[in-house]
Amino acid sequence: MRCTRGVRLGVWALLGLLVPFAAHAQMRPVQLICEYLHDPLGVDAVRPRLSWQLKSGERGVSQTAYQVLVASTDAGLAADQPDVWDSGRVESNQSLHVEYGGPPLASSKRYSWKVRVWDQAGAMTVSEPASWRTGLLTQNEWHGHWIGRTEDTRYAPAPLLRHSFELRREVENAQLFISGLGYYELRLNGAKVGDHVLDPGYTAFDRRVLYVSYDVTAQLHRGANAVGVILGTGWYNVHSLAVWGFDKAPWRAAPKLLLELRVTYDDGSSETIVSDETWKTSTGPITYDSIYGGESYDARLERSGWDTASFDDSAWQPALLVAPPGGQLVSQQMPPVRVVRRLTPRKLAEPRPGVYVFDFGQNFAGVSELTVDAPAGTTIALRHGERVASDGSLDVTESMRHQRQKPPRFQTSEYTTAGGGPETWSPRFTYYGFQYVEVSGLPSEPSLDTLAGLVIHTDVESAGEFVSSNELLNRIQAATRWSYLSNLVSLPTDCPQREKNAWTGDAHLAAEQALFNFKPAAVYSKWLHDLVDAQRAKGDLPGIAPTSGWGYGRLNGPAWDSALLLIPAYMHQYYGDERILTRHYDAFKRYVDYVTSRAPGGIANFGLNDWVPYKTRTPAGITSTAYYYRDAQIVARTAELLGKHDEAEQYRQLAQRIFDAFNERFFDPANGSYGNGSQTSISCALYQGLVGPEHRGAVTRSLVQAIAQHDDHIDTGVLGAKYVLLALTENGRTDLAYKVVDQKTLPGWGYWMQQGATTLWEDWKGTQSLNHIMFGDVSAWFYKAIAGINPDPAAPGWANVIIKPSVPPGMQSARARYDSIRGTIASAWQIDGATLTLVVEIPANSRAAIFVPTPDADSVQEGGQPASDAPGVRFVESANGYVRYDVGSGRYTFEAARPLP
Ligand code: BGC
Repeated sequence: MRCTRGVRLGVWALLGLLVPFAAHAQMRPVQLICEYLHDPLGVDAVRPRLSWQLKSGERGVSQTAYQVLVASTDAGLAADQPDVWDSGRVESNQSLHVEYGGPPLASSKRYSWKVRVWDQAGAMTVSEPASWRTGLLTQNEWHGHWIGRTEDTRYAPAPLLRHSFELRREVENAQLFISGLGYYELRLNGAKVGDHVLDPGYTAFDRRVLYVSYDVTAQLHRGANAVGVILGTGWYNVHSLAVWGFDKAPWRAAPKLLLELRVTYDDGSSETIVSDETWKTSTGPITYDSIYGGESYDARLERSGWDTASFDDSAWQPALLVAPPGGQLVSQQMPPVRVVRRLTPRKLAEPRPGVYVFDFGQNFAGVSELTVDAPAGTTIALRHGERVASDGSLDVTESMRHQRQKPPRFQTSEYTTAGGGPETWSPRFTYYGFQYVEVSGLPSEPSLDTLAGLVIHTDVESAGEFVSSNELLNRIQAATRWSYLSNLVSLPTDCPQREKNAWTGDAHLAAEQALFNFKPAAVYSKWLHDLVDAQRAKGDLPGIAPTSGWGYGRLNGPAWDSALLLIPAYMHQYYGDERILTRHYDAFKRYVDYVTSRAPGGIANFGLNDWVPYKTRTPAGITSTAYYYRDAQIVARTAELLGKHDEAEQYRQLAQRIFDAFNERFFDPANGSYGNGSQTSISCALYQGLVGPEHRGAVTRSLVQAIAQHDDHIDTGVLGAKYVLLALTENGRTDLAYKVVDQKTLPGWGYWMQQGATTLWEDWKGTQSLNHIMFGDVSAWFYKAIAGINPDPAAPGWANVIIKPSVPPGMQSARARYDSIRGTIASAWQIDGATLTLVVEIPANSRAAIFVPTPDADSVQEGGQPASDAPGVRFVESANGYVRYDVGSGRYTFEAARPLP
């Protein structure tokens, strides 16, 4: 291997961007999580699952045994006195989802835990302590009442509810549980509690209502205290009229609140403060709020000090006791929605006198924050949208096309000043999808400082990073991340402006990308309940969940509904989560049986097809039947996990019948093609595993032809856009998939970027929404195909990692880092002259098959010596342009003759 020093430095500069490798030689447990969250509050799982990662600087390290210790106090845990549960030493390499196995847990109690692990040499290390706190585990533990201001759903102002109370001693600990529908803002002693916005998450409130847990010890004191809550309409009292009929939702009612505050004093005695008819209510400055329409705020109506104990509320009305919303109270066990970032406008224009348009240069979900100095009673209107017309004025025609409100009001904030100095305001109970804000009513000319953009989404941690030498790919990657986050506001949504609906198809098409880029496990766990809540007795599902009842008859079908099975299957694959499969087994079966009832002879010829295609349409029969096939397999696999071997066999046989029927109906053996020969038809058969091994070569060739017919451009809708790239990669044609992604003309992701897109669009031409995530699987393909990080279907939860990068002609380098549930997986490659360098990192307690892309097996070195002599590296085979090595955990640096261009 000849490398000049300069080139080598270049390689290391690139690869140095991988996370620094663990300095510790000895394996130790880190990153302890309970139900996917760090030190969560409000855990209501009866047997919470505990996971940890293992860190080590050595190669080939794995866990051979573990011991979980759970104590009721930190001191007890530190003294190795696990008075709650001691798992004992368990001879196992399991480090994910170890179920708590102690006596039943108590409500609103903190549990401290740690784990001891043993490595192959028998050396033991112990983790730092972690904790979880339980929520209210049974419905009858709630002592409070649902209260509100009115039962009139048309009453517009947002209610304020307040209560003063005395605490007779020093507070040792205080836990607060709240649900406020549609949205709440919680305040204690004059300040907002926590940093959540648009809380609680959206559910079908007549089925399930989320409550949120806070530790408020620091916000309370001995003596007089006050709690105040503002309620918004959110999704609970939707009064905007639109095609989805949320105004007619069965759960619809006026805003209401349930609150319980449990205080423990320094002498061990306790006190509970709850919402009831002794609370007082009035209205304040929010005169209108709507999830679609926006918010109006009249600062002259602010009630100074209303959320403090000294406030005189004698003129306020007593709160009204109201009916509960009907749904079961469930703890909100996912990262909250937050304001995660501030954006500054890039440009400011004045298309009409006195009407100003701010451009943030980025499409996103959130709100704008206004700063203004104007005489009292000045009303400023801020309309939000993602397009401007040719004259520079805001154009929301597309985004409003499903709205039926008269007079129309959409994505509009309205602020009326109190006067007397600069005022800063942003709405609380709504959010918008936008890039532009049109502002009118300002008393004087604004500057860029007049507005800030507050980016809002469910605050999931980032998990992955992909960077390559091709700037176009990097831009598509960035746009995908923006679109995903814009579409994660307690639910996985389709778009943040027009609909804000959790469309099932969009959700599963975006899911694998999401699992690489972020940590959305808890969000999907919650949304799966929403889906199951929406399933009807006969097994069918609506196109959106939650739904008011809209979307069952049409605008669904296997290609959308299969989110119910696919997302749990992905969670099993990416997180090793079996519970998400087994918990919903009955719902899976009911769904597949429903499809069977509509699929005579094994062909499911109904439902949405390859949505928003470019030119060529693909009939639903192909795509729906293929999902039906996948679903039957997922039912079979889940039955196996549950030990239901007969049912597993029954659904395996069903899958086989679907496979046969599909091929009988759609396969054209003479041409190696399927259905109408569209890119989607052929790639669907390949990607969904419906092509017999003997035909794969021929079918791949016909896919290549179908792409060539469109000048090596993609010609599919949202379904095919996922299949084409993966079908090509899985059949050895990543080069062509790359060419398709690298196109800069219509249709393709590159075309969008050429047009200045900062998010992914709904359709190839860009005539509809400009912030949809359903074409986003291209980002998962970057991780899998280019960087080469692939899960092994036979070893869920990254127990085994398949590293198989591709080096498309013209690319110089690519790197990806993925914080998997087991720890960091990284793969980075670079071409220098005739040499390929590949650096791979595999977390402790995992192993990997590394496929080095080189035509010359003899050229492969690892750490400067022939790879087959390198410690912990085992040569397996050389085939199809790759040399395979099996390794344990650790960092590996391969150098080899580069693949032929
Ligand atoms: C949504 C899509 C959705 C589709 C299905 C559209 O209005 O925005 O993303 O999947 O409808 O009908």
